Amino acid sequence: MQHVCALADVPAGEGLRIGSVTPPIAVFRTEDGEVFALDDTCTHQDASLADGWVEDCWVECPLHASRFDLRTGAVDAPPAKLPVRAHRVEVRDGEVWVALSEAVAHLPPGVSYEAG
Ligand code: FES
Repeated sequence: MQHVCALADVPAGEGLRIGSVTPPIAVFRTEDGEVFALDDTCTHQDASLADGWVEDCWVECPLHASRFDLRTGAVDAPPAKLPVRAHRVEVRDGEVWVALSEAVAHLPPGVSYEAG
């Protein structure tokens, strides 16, 4: 697992983009205090899900409102068609640790990130 941020960096009901990971991920904290991590880039176009709206266990893309399940990365409706990866999260002593999924990331057309 790798350390990505302090829990205090992620207000309840919001997301935080973690650009130090390739491709970038986002850590989300629900109003209930649950913490999740997904790939940050929407699978439809180049939008940061960390800029979206968190409601219950879903985040709504800020551009065209497809919603992704924070628990699984599944998408609810077009225009996004593919899920984002969900990553395993642990919170220890107020710090957020993530085990990155080994699945292939679904990035939108035209978007790529250089490893490293
Ligand atoms: S960029 Fe996310 S739904 Fe279009």
